[in-house]
Amino acid sequence: MRFHYVCSDCGRVFETEGLMYQCPECAKRNDGKTFPYGNLRVELDESVLKAAREKEHVTPDDFYPYPGEDPSLYPIFTTPLMKPERIAKRLGLANLMFKLDSQLISGSFKDRASYEVALQAKALGETKIALASTGNAGAAMSAVGAAMGLDIILFVPETAPINKLMQSVLYGAKVVPVKGTYDDAFALSIEYTRLKGGINRNTAYNPMTIEGKKSVSIDLFEQMGRKAPDAIYVPVGDGCIIGGVAKGFDDLMKAGLIERVPRLIACQSTKSAAIANAIENDDFRAIEASTRADSISVDLPANGRMAARSVIASEGWAVRVSDEEILDSQLTLTRESGVLAEPAAAAAYAALEKDRDHLVSVLGEDASVVVLLTGTGFKDMKAFDGKVRLPESIENSAEAVRALPF
Ligand SMILES: Cc1ncc(COP(=O)(O)O)c(C=O)c1O
Repeated sequence: MRFHYVCSDCGRVFETEGLMYQCPECAKRNDGKTFPYGNLRVELDESVLKAAREKEHVTPDDFYPYPGEDPSLYPIFTTPLMKPERIAKRLGLANLMFKLDSQLISGSFKDRASYEVALQAKALGETKIALASTGNAGAAMSAVGAAMGLDIILFVPETAPINKLMQSVLYGAKVVPVKGTYDDAFALSIEYTRLKGGINRNTAYNPMTIEGKKSVSIDLFEQMGRKAPDAIYVPVGDGCIIGGVAKGFDDLMKAGLIERVPRLIACQSTKSAAIANAIENDDFRAIEASTRADSISVDLPANGRMAARSVIASEGWAVRVSDEEILDSQLTLTRESGVLAEPAAAAAYAALEKDRDHLVSVLGEDASVVVLLTGTGFKDMKAFDGKVRLPESIENSAEAVRALPF
């Protein structure tokens, strides 16, 4: 066997490589009011870890529960690691890096999870995948589905940014806008697979989403010369990305390739800070989220328990930023680094700006720090309304050029 499942709450072991979502016992405790129990963790077999340990270079396929036979069918390539020189100088951080996952094929980090779930579907002989999404996961799953010939059924809150919805429609997914929140769409998509079959790709609910997301850590490890950074700023909503980042470094550690998981910094909006509440106050209750950073607006974080535990185990912390700080950071990013990030992604950078002195007090100015920029701003240009406007046209004359103040 290549892997088995372990309940992240009670530790029960499930010796199967078949389709599983949550620990049947722990899931009975779920009441919709506190963070869900029973998410499963994939444990790779020692033979898989040993094989990775012995390789000169590793790739995500070495660590996937369901490796791809041909990674070029939907490449989860090495995304750029950028040195934002002007920002690094201004903040006095010598080794600051941006990981540009916004460059993945569908424009967000979510390609990572969607690809591994598609490989799961192929391995299990399924052709239909249903999910709920605030937009990016849906677009990513729809893109992978188009490339790999899978039928995608997507439940989205009707308020999701139009470009993200349009993207999924263009890829040929069956899009079901829901008159309700993301959390409502989440519940309906589970109902869909219960009634109509197929695989459910809901974030964290399907453990393969975490397994796909962990590829960013394997990628970073090789990209940084086979070592881990000291700290990573991650935008957090459901807590599945940060859980995946943690899992990737955990697997690298189990393989004996690194000695320590980087400090994981959970970056949230003040208006959607359920996981920050858990990390700081041991408070695991649902909230009423309302941030403009739609991708991290979550009432009941699907991976809240694992995410909070991972951050604490890494000796990391949470940072809360206001929507104003997030939207201002989007502009700083574009103007000082040339990166156009969506609000959720910019939240990670906003958190770094706010947390800079604290970070330096813990790790020093030379620490290697990665900000995970998870989604492109091209999908949501409306976020800039009121911040910038297009200039007036000038007359078609040399006179008008002379009159320009610059
Ligand atoms: C661009 C972007 N950043 C961050 C997140 C947050 O990830 P998670 O909900 O796994 O915490 C999402 C999730 O939709 C996203 O689309």
